[in-house]
Amino acid sequence: MAIADTSTLQKESDQSGRAAGACVMVLFGAAGDLTKRKLIPSLFNLAKAKLLPKDFAVLGVSVDDLTLEQFRTQVTGFLPAEDHDNEHWQWFTDRLFYLRGEFSDPNLYSTLVARLGDLDRDQQTAGNYMFYLATSPKFFGLIVQQLGNAGLSKQDGGRWRRVIIEKPFGHNLESAKALNREIKSVLDESQIYRIDHYLGKETVQNIMVFRFDNAIFEPIWNRRYIDHVQITNAETVGVEQRGGYFDTAGTLRDMVPNHLMQLLSLTAMESPPSFQADAVRNEQAKVLHAVQPLDSEDVLNLTVRGQYGEGIVGGENVPSYRSEAGVSPNSRTETYVGMKLTVDNWRWAGVPFCLRTAKRMAKRHTEIVIQFKSTPFELFRNSAFHKLHTNTLVIGIQPVEAISLSFGAKIPGAVLRVGSVDMSFEYSKYFGADPHTGYEVLLYDCMIGDPTLFQRADMVEAGWSVIDPILDVWTALPPRKFPNYAAGTWGPKDADELLERDHRRWRTIEP
Ligand code: BG6
Repeated sequence: MAIADTSTLQKESDQSGRAAGACVMVLFGAAGDLTKRKLIPSLFNLAKAKLLPKDFAVLGVSVDDLTLEQFRTQVTGFLPAEDHDNEHWQWFTDRLFYLRGEFSDPNLYSTLVARLGDLDRDQQTAGNYMFYLATSPKFFGLIVQQLGNAGLSKQDGGRWRRVIIEKPFGHNLESAKALNREIKSVLDESQIYRIDHYLGKETVQNIMVFRFDNAIFEPIWNRRYIDHVQITNAETVGVEQRGGYFDTAGTLRDMVPNHLMQLLSLTAMESPPSFQADAVRNEQAKVLHAVQPLDSEDVLNLTVRGQYGEGIVGGENVPSYRSEAGVSPNSRTETYVGMKLTVDNWRWAGVPFCLRTAKRMAKRHTEIVIQFKSTPFELFRNSAFHKLHTNTLVIGIQPVEAISLSFGAKIPGAVLRVGSVDMSFEYSKYFGADPHTGYEVLLYDCMIGDPTLFQRADMVEAGWSVIDPILDVWTALPPRKFPNYAAGTWGPKDADELLERDHRRWRTIEP
């Protein structure tokens, strides 16, 4: 697909793409997995892009007993070898600092106040602090309370204080509301940045540009032209080292109220009146509230759960979910979720939104499919070769970031034959591929004070309201036939039947 204008989208709050202003990033959970896999590489990518402030420091906080040198060496190990020892690395490691402490210990926070004072003096960080809670969720409320007690949440004299909170944000609607109440007793909503890393993905952000910066799609983006929408998130990985967490959470909690609801809301929302954070988030929240709540009968008919048994993924034998480390051998936790939702508003009434997300699928693949209706009359049905097709728009989120549109075309030749062809655009082919984790934009946006890509309290709660009724029924009626799909397949038979009942099918994802 040809793109005439390649200019990048800039937020209204920052038209320039220049480095963020002076600040310290306080990283709770500095020795953890998220810090290692995403946060340090993202900060380093920002350093290379010269988007970090000149006056900047990262203060890592964790329970590990590390000297500053050991911490800096450890962080270097989180970066790819080709990035060690270059000028950016030196600049970056010089700005790394470390503080050891227990998150529940009030003394940690008085030491933190003193350390931040030193950094403000030595690094000219101006008293602006971004606290990143990359910790177990049980510490979220507690750390925020302690920051408040230590006076670290107070913004005065032009200094800002912001807190980034990782997921999971609660484990159901009630606990999400309780956590919101707790952190809002210390912080103003404008200081809270609830992260969903799916909003850091280029293609996810592009959904809005695609829809609202192109005049040709919006007129047909509704129930009159669209038959249904499919959102697929397929992972090949199992639970890796997170069996303990995952076995108490399950795929429904882990993926649906957050990541899948983000994809749904961006696909289904109305055009916001501006690109201001709250204008965008108001529309996302509205559409989440319009998702029809499922009653118990609906949960039985419109949702499917599954758990993987042993199988073959990528040519390797892999164990069943119940044999994974940290997982109970009789676990009834789901690793596959499928569901059919409807959005009750004028644009979408009657259009099914079919969602599926799972671990240990045949291929890693995330996409949104807009399946258009067929023509009202099939003019070419009697042609020599007529491959029945309908127009399909596929937004590929990962691993390939792409958009493609299929349509019918005449196959060249004297005899009239009709086939289906694709018009496609791939991000990396058009714009080149820069290594990024998806967290860069989120960290940068928090530093410049742009919360557009972060979730507001009402959005998080709206996401949980969709899945709470499902959790209730699933808890009351434990599954009887787990495991019900082999690792390396496309999930349980029930998931196919969920769509086949309405004469639809999941789009085939090529191996
Ligand atoms: C996380 C979930 O939020 O997202 C994981 O907790 C999941 O279970 C991951 O694997 C998927 O993220 P991505 O970016 O790999 O699709």
